[in-house]
Order: sequence, then C-alpha cells, then structure tokens
Amino acid sequence: MKRSLKMGMIAVVGICLIFYQYHLSTGIRFDQVSIFNGGAAAADDNGNLLPIGDEDAYVRVHKITEEMIRKAVFRVQKANGLSPDVSAMLTQELLSYANKNFDSAENNSRVSRLTPTTMATREETVDPLYIITPTYRRPEQIPELTRMSHTLMLVKNVHWLVIEDAIVATKQVTRLLERTGLKFEHLIAPMPEKYKLKKGAKPRGVSNRNRGLQWIRANATNGVFYFADDDNTYDIALFEEIRKTRKVSMFPVGLCTKFGLSSPIIKNGTFAGFYDGWIAGRKFPVDMAGFAVSVNFLRQRPNASMPYRAGFEEDGFLKSLAPFEPREIELLADNCTRILAWHTQTKKNEPSAPLDMKLYGSTNLVKLKQQIV
Ligand SMILES: *[C@@H]1O[C@H](CO)[C@@H](O)[C@H](O)[C@H]1NC(C)=O
Ligand SMILES: *[C@@H]1O[C@H](CO)[C@@H](O)[C@H](O)[C@H]1NC(C)=O
Ligand SMILES: *[C@@H]1O[C@H](CO)[C@@H](O)[C@H](O)[C@H]1NC(C)=O
Ligand SMILES: *[C@@H]1O[C@H](CO)[C@@H](O)[C@H](O)[C@H]1NC(C)=O
Ligand SMILES: *[C@@H]1O[C@H](CO)[C@@H](O)[C@H](O)[C@H]1NC(C)=O
Repeated sequence: MKRSLKMGMIAVVGICLIFYQYHLSTGIRFDQVSIFNGGAAAADDNGNLLPIGDEDAYVRVHKITEEMIRKAVFRVQKANGLSPDVSAMLTQELLSYANKNFDSAENNSRVSRLTPTTMATREETVDPLYIITPTYRRPEQIPELTRMSHTLMLVKNVHWLVIEDAIVATKQVTRLLERTGLKFEHLIAPMPEKYKLKKGAKPRGVSNRNRGLQWIRANATNGVFYFADDDNTYDIALFEEIRKTRKVSMFPVGLCTKFGLSSPIIKNGTFAGFYDGWIAGRKFPVDMAGFAVSVNFLRQRPNASMPYRAGFEEDGFLKSLAPFEPREIELLADNCTRILAWHTQTKKNEPSAPLDMKLYGSTNLVKLKQQIV
C-alpha cells in the first residue's frame, strides 16, 4: 500500500474514534441532565435528539463543531505525520459531511440549527464553575476521581482544579484528567512539614484548597467556586444551583453519620441558625461541601484563606471572608429543603502488594498494575 494512502486511512480511523468519543461524552452529558431535571427527551436511532421538554433540551443536537473537526484533524496530523494537504482535504470533507447531517437533523425536528458560533456562545453564556478538589495518592484515588469526573462531565462550563498533596503529581491522575475532556488544572501543594509532624488530627486538604484559591485569584474573573472532595457524592442538580451564588450560598449536606445532616435552619422563609453534629463554638458550623462562593466576592477579599486548623477549616475560611455575616447567606436547594451533596467516605485500604515479576512479568498484569496507585 502506498505510504500516503496508509496514512490517510489511519487518519480517518483516528478521526472517527475521536468523534465517537465526543459524541459519547456530549450525548451522555445533556441527555442525562434533562432527565435529572425532569425534562423529557428521547433520541432517535441516529442519536439525534427529539426534544419534548424544556428549552434547554434543544442544546444537544449539534455536538461536533468546526473547531472540534479542525482540532481532531490537527491531532491526527501531528501524531501520524500526515501531510498538511491531506489534512486540509480531510477537514473539508468532514465539514461538508457534518453540515449535511446538521441540515437533515434540522428538518427532522423542531430543533434550530446550532452553528459553531452559536454553540460556542452557548458555552460561554454560562459563567464558569471552578471545582476545587483536594486529593492525595492512595489506593482509592483513581476510582474516586473516576466517579467524580463522570459527574462533572455532565455539567456545563466546569473548570476542575485537582490539587494533590504531593511533591510530584500522580501520572495516573494526569492521564485520567486528560481523558475526561474537561477543562482542568492538575496542581500540587504539599502540606507544610510542621503540620505533618503534629500529633492528632491533621489539617488535611488545606494546602491544596489554598493553592486552588491562589489559582482562582490569578486566573479567574467571574463565576463561582466550590470545594468538592473526591470521596463525596454530588447530584448534578447541585451544580446548576450553585451557579446562582452572588456572594456566598449554602445548602444541606447529607452525612452518613448518626447526625445524618448538616444544614442551615430555615424558619418562616429566613435563615435561623445551623444544624450540625458538631457546633464547637464555630460561627459557621457547616460542612466543606455545604457552601459555594462567587469568584468576585473572593477577589474583593485579598486576605481570605483557609487556616491550618483541623476541624475549623470551613469556619476559618468563611470568617476570613469578612465582612460577611450569616444573615447574608444565600439559601439554595429550594430554601434548603433538598439534599444535593452527600458527605460520603470510602473505606481506607492498604496499598496493593508489588507484582511478582518472575511469575507475571510477561503478562497483562504488568499494564494493569501501572493503573493502580
Ligand atoms: C429542509 O427543509 C427545507 C425547507 O422545508 C428544504 O428547502 C431543505 O431542502 C431541507 N433540507 C434537507 C437536508 O432535507
Ligand atoms: C494561572 O494560569 C497559568 C496558565 O495556566 C498558570 O501558568 C499559572 O501558574 C496560574 N497561576 C497561579 C497562581 O496558579
Ligand atoms: C414570617 O415572615 C413574614 C414576612 O417575612 C412576617 O410578616 C411574619 O410575621 C413572620 N411570621 C413569624 C411567625 O415570624
Ligand atoms: C423560599 O422562601 C421564600 C420565603 O418564604 C419564598 O419567597 C421563596 O419563593 C422560596 N423559594 C423557593 C425556591 O422555594
Ligand atoms: C490584609 O492583611 C494585611 C496584613 O495582615 C493587612 O495589613 C490588610 O489591611 C488586610 N487587608 C484587608 C482588605 O483586610
């Protein structure tokens, strides 16, 4: 076979794979969002959406934009040494093919056509949500982050700040983040030595979260941020709720403890205190998963940060947002009547033993072990 022909075929296969991925990710994303939100939607055999419900369901149809096509071809071109001429031809072909499909989809339903521009505008019309996730190397790390990434893939315009308490970033985490297609930063922020040596409860995740705040101060201009641990469980409706945050919002957190719950108390439609198993003289006795803050509000408070004080991280951070009083809290989740975030915890496990290379050195187990941290 001629070399250029072979390359062309590789390119086509590659592009098909990439599109299939895009299709899968966006397909899942919007369908499930509308199902969770109670909107009705159905897909025909080609995966085109036939919306029956709310306006929002209309977003889904044209998942592949011109920019995606150009990027995909470029990626294959770089990876396989494809000539620029062949790349240009492929781009043209794919664009005209995609446009044909867009047109027929348009006539099939009430869906209006989304051009690459309107699609892009749509993404930009929702302000970014910055999700700050502290994490550290342990056997549960990859499964937890897999679960969480699949939640975030259902949310529009998320920017995920994954910050490891580590000297070097875990490469399995980087690989996972790259596969999600999410906007992300993979940062490291080791806990300072003096806290590591301390006896008793350690202020875990503080260096990570402060690093996240530092990133936001330097790089974010609008939107909302939320501290989301990797072992919690999030209802995707939570993310649409926290977009409403003007200053600081709060909402109930389900706890898998005897107390069962941490939430603001609402009486006659207004804030009337906190319900939490451990008040301990805190001004803001809330769970880390129970509040969100607007980026602008943070930026107006250059000194705000989380203290290295185990058990008082939330309280210390919220107090550092002064001037800010409990009566200013914005109550989300239908006046705090719905649980959309769960403070779940995974059982701690021992790291797995090294593989016996004499027995298994020439088997698939070697590759599998590399995926476990
Ligand atoms: C879509 O409908 C319009 C008007 O009804 C028609 O002119 C056009 O050819 C149709 N396009 C396709 C691809 O069927
Ligand atoms: C802001 O973003 C840039 C580009 O990603 C990055 O290099 C820089 O480190 C970020 N700033 C902070 C303070 O994290
Ligand atoms: C409940 O709130 C309304 C207005 O917000 C107020 O007029 C009313 O007196 C309140 N009722 C009680 C029992 O506090
Ligand atoms: C929350 O409560 C207030 C005061 O009772 C009411 O005006 C508002 O409609 C409620 N909001 C929701 C989303 O239920
Ligand atoms: C921030 O902290 C510095 C040093 O502690 C202090 O001088 C300054 O007034 C503080 N700024 C604000 C806005 O609170």
